[in-house]
Amino acid sequence: MKILVIGNGGREHALAWKLLQAPNVQQVTCIPGNGGTASLKHCQNLPLNVEDFEGIGRFALVNGMGLIVIGPEAPLAAGMTDYLRHQHLTVFGPTRLGAQIEASKAWAKALMQEAHIPTARAAVFTEKEAAQAYVQAQGAPIVVKADGLAAGKGVTVAATIAEAQAAIATMFEGQFGKAGERVVIEEYLTGQEVSVLALTDGITIRPLLPAQDHKRIGEGDTGLNTGGMGAYAPAPIVTPALMHRIQTEILEPTIAALQNRKIDYCGVLFAGLMITPEGDPKVIEFNCRFGDPETQAILPLLETPLDELLLACAQKRLADQPPLVWKAGAAACVVMAADGYPGGFRKGDRITGTDDAEAQGAMVFHAGTQIKQQALVTDGGRVLGVTATGDTVDAAIAQAYAAVNSIHFEGAYYRRDIGDRVRTAESTSS
Ligand code: AMP
Ligand code: GLY
Repeated sequence: MKILVIGNGGREHALAWKLLQAPNVQQVTCIPGNGGTASLKHCQNLPLNVEDFEGIGRFALVNGMGLIVIGPEAPLAAGMTDYLRHQHLTVFGPTRLGAQIEASKAWAKALMQEAHIPTARAAVFTEKEAAQAYVQAQGAPIVVKADGLAAGKGVTVAATIAEAQAAIATMFEGQFGKAGERVVIEEYLTGQEVSVLALTDGITIRPLLPAQDHKRIGEGDTGLNTGGMGAYAPAPIVTPALMHRIQTEILEPTIAALQNRKIDYCGVLFAGLMITPEGDPKVIEFNCRFGDPETQAILPLLETPLDELLLACAQKRLADQPPLVWKAGAAACVVMAADGYPGGFRKGDRITGTDDAEAQGAMVFHAGTQIKQQALVTDGGRVLGVTATGDTVDAAIAQAYAAVNSIHFEGAYYRRDIGDRVRTAESTSS
C-alpha cells in the first residue's frame, strides 16, 4: 500500500517512520514533509501547499494512495477529510464537524457538559464586560481561553484577577482574530497533566499508551508555553485502574456524544487530562489529532502494524482488530529547539551529529529541518525530537540525553529536566 501523510512536524516524521516498518507499506509520501522525511528510505516529500485540497486529492487519486493520514489540526478543521472522502479516498482523520472538538473550546465544553464528562467548570462569553464581571465574581487563579485555534497560544492561566482581565481585553481586541471572538473562562485545576491518545473509527475506541508532555519552555515548568519540549510513555501515573476510568468516564461517553450529534468521528481522540490531587481524571482539552511530541514517544513502543490500525479506523472495522501489542519498557523524547523559541528564532543553522545519535540507537525525529545544498539545516522553532527506548522511563531518558549530546547546531536549546518527576519516583521506589 502507498500512504500519504499530511504535515511537516516531528509527529509526521514519526508517523512516516512507523508506517514504513509495516510489511504492507511500500511507500510513503509526505506533503510537505521535512528534512527527516526526505531522508527516510521509501519516503518522498511533495512540496504542495497543505491548503491545496484539490491538488492533494488529484495526486492521491492519480498515484493510487491507499490511505491518507492527516497530521495537523488546521487542515482537519478546514474540512480536508470531507473533501478527500468526497473524492472516494480513504482518510484517517475527523471531518470538519468532528474537528470542532479541538477547533472550538466552547463547542467541546458544551459537548462535555451534555455528556457529563468530568472537566473544569466553565462559562462562555462573547462580550468583554460580561466576561470581566464573571472573573471578578469568581476570583483568581482562573483560566482564560480563546475559543478557536491559536497555535497553542490562546490560553492564559491567570494568577490574579488583573491578569485575567488583561487577557480578556486583549482577546476581545482581536489578538487571535476570529479565534478570540468567543472566550471560555474556566476553573483552575491543579494536579499532573497526562495525554491519552485513542484511535477510533467513531464506534470502537482503542487507547494508546498514556504519555506526559512538558509544555513550558523553561526547566521546572516555567516560562512561556510551547508546542511541547519533551515527552515520555507510558506515564507511570496512569495505572490500569485509572486508564479504565479514563476509558469509561471520558473516552467512551465522548464518542457516544459525538454519535448523538450524528458526527462520524474517525481518527485520534486526544484527551489532555488533569489528574487531580484526589486522583480523578478531568479533561483540560480535546485534540482531534496525534500529539506532538507525544507521538514520538508512543510509536516506537507499538508492535502492531500502524497501517492496519489506521486503515481499520478509516474503514470502520476497528472492533475486528486484535488487541494492540506494545514493546515492554518505555520511550522518551527530548526536543531540541532553536535559540529564541517560542519567540522569534533563527533558521538556516547547520545541524551535525544526527548520524552519531542514531548509531547509538536513538531515533532522531525531525520537526523544523530542511535539506539545503545537501546539508541539514534548522528550519523551525522545534528542530528535532531525539527519542530513545529503554527498560524503564529512567533508562529511556538517559539514552535520549546521551544522543542529544552528540547533536550540535548553533544556539541549540533543550530542557535538561524531561521526565524528572518520574525519574525521582522511579529512583525512590527502587
Ligand atoms: P490547552 O490549550 O487548553 O491545553 O491549555 C494549555 C495549557 O494551559 C494546558 O496544558 C495546561 O497546562 C494549562 N491549562 C489549561 N486549562 C487549565 C485549567 N483549567 N487549569 C489549569 N491549567 C490549565
Ligand atoms: N503536545 C501537545 C499537543 O500536541 O497539543
